[in-house]
Formats: sequence, structure tokens, C-alpha cells
Amino acid sequence: MTEPHSENLWTAYEAAAATGGALCARGGDAKGWTAEEWAAGGISIDTRTLKPGDIFVALRDARDGHEFLKSAFEAGAAAALVARAPEDAPEGAPLLVVGDTLQGLRDLAVAARRRNFGKRIAVTGSAGKTSTKEILRDILSVSGEVHAADKSFNNHWGVPLTLSRLPMHAEFGVFEIGMNHAGEISPLSGLVRPHAAIVTTVAAAHLEFFNSVEEIAEAKAEIFTGLARGGVAVLPIDNRYYELLKKRAEQAGAAAFVTFGETEAADYQLLDYKSDGAGARLKISINGDVREVTAGIPGRHQAINMLAALAAAEAVGANLDAAINALAGLRPAEGRGARASVMVDQGEATLIDESYNANPVSMAAAIGLLGATPIGAGAKRIAVLGEMLELGPDAPALHAGLAEALLAAKVDRVYVSGELMRHLWDKLPASMRGLFAGSAVGLVGAVEDAVEPGDVVMVKGSNASKVSAVARALKVRGQKES
Ligand SMILES: Nc1ncnc2c1ncn2[C@@H]1O[C@H](COP(=O)(O)OP(=O)(O)OP(=O)(O)O)[C@@H](O)[C@H]1O
Ligand SMILES: [Mg+2]
Repeated sequence: MTEPHSENLWTAYEAAAATGGALCARGGDAKGWTAEEWAAGGISIDTRTLKPGDIFVALRDARDGHEFLKSAFEAGAAAALVARAPEDAPEGAPLLVVGDTLQGLRDLAVAARRRNFGKRIAVTGSAGKTSTKEILRDILSVSGEVHAADKSFNNHWGVPLTLSRLPMHAEFGVFEIGMNHAGEISPLSGLVRPHAAIVTTVAAAHLEFFNSVEEIAEAKAEIFTGLARGGVAVLPIDNRYYELLKKRAEQAGAAAFVTFGETEAADYQLLDYKSDGAGARLKISINGDVREVTAGIPGRHQAINMLAALAAAEAVGANLDAAINALAGLRPAEGRGARASVMVDQGEATLIDESYNANPVSMAAAIGLLGATPIGAGAKRIAVLGEMLELGPDAPALHAGLAEALLAAKVDRVYVSGELMRHLWDKLPASMRGLFAGSAVGLVGAVEDAVEPGDVVMVKGSNASKVSAVARALKVRGQKES
């Protein structure tokens, strides 16, 4: 059972004023409910995660949310934002009726933004959006209350939902903005009106709906169109499309530019990176001021994300020294590099769970991390890889291309699943081949058999490859025997 909210986010009148909707109760006031006197502590679009006291927003997506009004009120909804009053809504249930519920949600989001006097940061990019958002959450929270979504929530409903939940007194809001098509980021950035906008990187991810990586860069650059007056563009200086991004930011009226990366010209520069695989020691230079920093999460790409986050944090007035110190407290999230011990034959192996998602850039980064992680004497580095999806016609070559990174990282044994991974399998020397299986579940037994004390196992693939099943199986085994 979820805890009810302790504070009110929306009263009936505020929500009605924001959306221009009509307050009513189905069949008239009843059961202690009144059409106009409710207050809601939160907003939900899913009855499975709805908290008592939420406004339930009946969106039409894969299914029509209006079908779930009954369960929303059973779960304790304070009111529902609807486009019609369905017959099975409970008698007396308080409704806020609008023409279109997604527009209603956007209207709530805009009103939430207008009444909040904090600073907002928007993050987009081909990889690292959620990572950077989580880094920002941690490094900003030492300066003030931070609002950010718990999940990726970066699309046409995720962004307005997150913004509509912005507490009035939050000092910072962090918003992840994603896209599958050109033209999707502009309106979302226009909702958020960020004071700082970050493009983490531009790479061949989600290529399916694009003809080139340059088109992707153009789509990411849309984030600058929503910048608030005086807003700052935070740019990846080492990226091939840096000049393009900068030009678009200029055209969009960015008031200032800050760069991050590894080249000397970067305002926030990574000078040196050392890692034992668990955390990292960084040497960074901020506008020429050199600092030694401890980071709680490993990965050169994560260090770069941290620089982007520091740049944005400073741009919105957070305390830079406190933000830098907070980097030591970072911890990887579930499925994004979180480590676990796996008990095997009286010994311990290490699982690196990267199974949340994958594209060629993040795959190469994770393989590099596996290579940097120390192993026991005579032990093995094992990679368990599911397919990278949504890559378009280059997919076979991008899968085959992973062989190089695996060799460079001195990976001993490779287990792969899915037809696209056959292109990698064919490239691997026989000594590295663990098993090829049609689907990820087919790998579980073989991986479990192969893992020995001192080994390090890294599991990664696109979410839909279901390679997380292998990570889960190893974790369950760790718990059973420990
Ligand atoms: N700057 C980066 N460059 C390359 N890879 C990265 C970078 N940051 C994170 N990654 C890797 O990319 C993967 C996805 O990270 P993350 O979830 O932060 O990205 P995202 O952009 O939010 O993805 P999604 O589009 O799925 O929401 C992880 O495996 C992570 O290790
Ligand atoms: Mg994400």
C-alpha cells in the first residue's frame, strides 16, 4: 500500500483554473465527495501506481484511461481529469472535465511551472539522460529541494506529468527529454522552459526514424528552442556535432554557452580518469581551476556526465563546491551499472548489471568498464550481451563492431542472444565464444554454469532483449546462498 501525500499540490479550483475545465461530480455530490472542495497531493496516469489523494488523469494511450476510473477511485483518487464521464465511474466521483486530457495535463504542467520560482534544467542526448538527471538530483540536493522524476519519463506524457508534479517550493526541477522523431523535443522543452539545457551526446541511437546522425543532432538541438530568457546551453565540445548544436543554441537565443569534455578548450574539462571499476578518481578543470575529485560511480562516460551536470548546476546558481563534494556519494541505479556479489562454489563473483538498456555507445562504454574491473587470479571477465534494438539498417555492422571493444577489454568469454548478435558471434575468436542463444533466457543456465569465484560478469542489452533475466537469475542465486 502506498503512503498518502502529506502536502497538497492542487486544489479543485486551482486545477480548474489551470485547465479551463468544468468541476462536477458524476450524478451529483455523494458519499462525502463534493465536486468543488477536493485537494490533491499528486498526479497519476496509472491506477497501478496511483497514490491515495492523487488526481487521476485519464489519458488515451495504448488504452483509454477512462476505462480505469472505477479502479482509480477504489485506489483513493481525489478526483479525475477526464474528457467524458463514463457510466462506470462511481456515483458522486469528483471530475474535472476538459476537451482533451493530455492537453489538460500540459495545462497543469504550465501552471505548476508558473507558480514555482525555482530553476529548471532540461537534459537530452542519445545516451546519459537519466544518468545525468540522477547526478543532478544528488548534486543539487545539497543546495536545495530538487524535483525530478523517479523514472525516465521523457516523452509526450512523461515530461508534462513530471512538470505537473513540481512542488510549489522546490528550488530545482530536473527534466529528461527524449524523442523518437524530429519535432518531438521542441514542444516539450517549451513546456519546461529550462534555465539550463544540456545535450549529453549525439550518437547513433534510435536511428530507425532518421536518415543520418546529423538529423539526430538537429532533433536534439530542439531543446534550446525552449530556453527561458537568459538561459544557458550546456554543450558536449568533443562531439562531432558540437558546432551544429552551438549554432542552433545561438539561433534559439541562448544567453550563454558552457562546454564540457576532454579537450583543453572545454570549460568543464576531464583531465584524468582512474577507476578500479567500482568508483573513480577524477582530475577536472573548471574554467582553469584544477580539482581532484572522488566519484561514487565509475565510467569515463559517467565522469563526462558529471561535468555536464556540474556545468548546469553552476549555471542555475547551485553551490559548486558542495556539488563537487556530492559526487562521492553517487551510486549507480538498478540496471545501470549497479554491482552485486554472486555466491558461487564457496566463493564470490561480481555482477555488473547494465541490463536496463543499450546502444552502440553505451555498450562500448560498459565493455570498457568490464575491462577496467579487476578480477581474481585465474578468474574470467564474462560479457552477457542481448541485442541492441532500434538501430535501423546498420544494425548488423554495429553488432559485429563490438568484437573490437571486447578484445580490447580482454574479455574472456562472451554469451550472446538474438539474431542480430549472430553478427558479433561470427566475428569472435573461438576461444571467446561462450554460447549463442535465440533468446536471453536460453543463456541463463550456461552463464550460471560458467561463473566461478573471482569472475566478473557484465550483463547488457536493450530493454526488450530481456537480457535482464540473466542478471536476475544471478542475483537470486547470490541471495539464496549468501
Ligand atoms: N555520456 C554517455 N555516453 C555514452 N554512454 C553513456 C553516457 N551516459 C550513460 N551512458 C550509458 O548509456 C546507457 C543508458 O544510460 P541512461 O539511462 O542514462 O541513458 P538515457 O539517455 O536516459 O536512455 P533512454 O533513452 O533509454 O532513456 C547506460 O548503459 C549508461 O552506462
Ligand atoms: Mg532515460
